[in-house]
Order: sequence, then C-alpha cells, then structure tokens
Amino acid sequence: MLLEGRSVAITGAGSGIGRALAIEFARRGAIPILIGRNAEKLAETASLLPAALPAKTCVADITSAHGREAIVQICTARGQLDILVNNAGLVPSGLLSNLTDSELQNAVMTNVVAPIALTRDLLRVLRRSDRPRIVNIGSIFGDIGHPHFAAYCATKFALRGFSDAIRRELAADRIGVTYAAPRATRTGAADGFQALIAPYGMSLDRPEAVAHQIVSAVEREAATVYAAGAERLFVAIQRLLPRLVDIALISKARKLRTGPVSR
Ligand SMILES: NC(=O)c1ccc[n+]([C@@H]2O[C@H](COP(=O)([O-])OP(=O)(O)OC[C@H]3O[C@@H](n4cnc5c(N)ncnc54)[C@H](OP(=O)(O)O)[C@@H]3O)[C@@H](O)[C@H]2O)c1
Repeated sequence: MLLEGRSVAITGAGSGIGRALAIEFARRGAIPILIGRNAEKLAETASLLPAALPAKTCVADITSAHGREAIVQICTARGQLDILVNNAGLVPSGLLSNLTDSELQNAVMTNVVAPIALTRDLLRVLRRSDRPRIVNIGSIFGDIGHPHFAAYCATKFALRGFSDAIRRELAADRIGVTYAAPRATRTGAADGFQALIAPYGMSLDRPEAVAHQIVSAVEREAATVYAAGAERLFVAIQRLLPRLVDIALISKARKLRTGPVSR
C-alpha cells in the first residue's frame, strides 16, 4: 500500500510511540490526524511534521462518547480516512494486590473499550477508502502473561483477540487489520515501570525504531508485526511450551517479592 496522500488518524499522538508514528507516516507522505487529550502535546507533535502537510489535531478523550464523536466529525470533514491507528494506552504495572479499582477501570476503558468503540464509530468513514486499514498497537505482553503486569496483559490479550476477530469479520468490507506487538519502549509510559526493567532483564527500543517497523508493516499490509529480539523467541516458546515461560518468569517474580520492588 502506498502511503503517499493517505489520511491516517493516530490516537495518543502527543507523545511516545504515537508521536513517532505520526512523524514516520508523514515522512512517507501520509497526512496525520493527531488525537489526544492534551492540545499542547499535539501541537508539539504537529510542529515536528513538514509544514506543507495539511495535518490536523483533534483534542479528544477516546474513553468518552463525546470525544469519539469529535474524532468522527474531524475524519468525516476531511472526507477520507484510510488508516486508523489505535495507539493511545495506559501501562499499569505492579503487583495485582496494589492496583486500585480506578487503575483497573482506566486501563480497561482506555486499552480495550475505547479502541473497540472508536473502530466501530469510524467504520462508516473507513469504508469510503479504497484501501482502508485498522492498526492496533498491542504489546509483546499481549502474548506473554507477565508478572507485575497482570492488568496490562489482560488488556493487550483482549486487543489481540479483537484484532483477529475484526480481521476476519471486516475482510468482506476489504478493511485490513494490522496488530502490532512492540516490546518495552523508551517512552513516558516506561517511566512507570522503571524499577522492573533490570530485574526482568527487559531491553528498551527507541520509539522511532518501533514506529519505523510498524509503518513498514502497514505498507506491506501485514496482519501482525512483532518486535525483533529475544522477546519474539519468547512468544514462540509461549505458544509451544508455555511451562518453560512459567519457570523463567516465576523465579524472577519470586525474587522480586522478597527484594526492593514490592509494588
Ligand atoms: N512503552 C512501552 O514499553 C510499550 C511497549 C509496548 C506497547 N506499548 C503501547 O504503545 C502505546 C503508546 O504508549 P507509549 O509507550 O507511547 O506511552 P505514552 O507516551 O504514555 O503514550 C500514550 C498516549 O496515549 C494518550 N492517551 C491516554 N489516554 C488517552 C485517552 N483517554 N484519550 C486519548 N488519548 C489518550 C496519551 O495522551 P494524553 O495523555 O495527552 O491524552 C499519550 O499520548 C500504548 O498502547 C502502549 O500500551 C508501549
């Protein structure tokens, strides 16, 4: 799929992977609609795009019907939406016993309910494109149930299931679906699980590298795109020999229960 001139709506475009995706799509000639709750952060992303590009910003909370309506309006007014990128997300971490009801609700609303509802709301405008595509930003933790990330894993497993289901359901409408599974990435979200990076031996990617890989997958119209590195091998082992992953992660989680990271 040629991205030149394509209209791409990106949620969570004011920072991290979403901002890097906006820059990478724009570099390949696509025209971003930048969505997020913070006007200043969106304006900063817009300032990093080529000045001649008719990019738009949309200040909206994807968890509210009102916010999603504003997104539908701006995409409809543009007259064309080729690609929806469901990127906005929260990364709750810590022991399950320490997660509050509101942390659980926010995670499920932002990472699961909102992208499903926004996809539904934008189907009508997406169907007008000659090559529509939905891109869901999941995580390696959408395949590997990881200690200290129980609620987050639950949301990303759900997003992966949603992606498979709509890929099959929307094939009749010629709407393609790409599910992306980055590994840990150096963004604001990663600040929240800083204390877990070394104990679990995580490697962090740069958001620019993640965005490059995802946008290339969109160009290829790939169904899935997984982070390179040891985590991809881990996903394969998880599918074939899940007990091995249990053994590796249980021992690390046990050490953390008695060590300095108690949250
Ligand atoms: N960082 C990682 O290690 C990692 C790894 C794999 C996958 N991911 C996934 O990558 C995606 C982006 O995360 P990130 O790492 O780039 O973190 P980030 O910099 O914190 O970005 C998250 C974005 O989501 C937006 N957002 C949150 N709630 C929203 C809402 N209700 N309505 C609209 N926008 C909302 C935030 O913008 P405002 O607060 O301004 O609205 C923010 O720009 C997430 O889906 C995350 O799960 C991250």
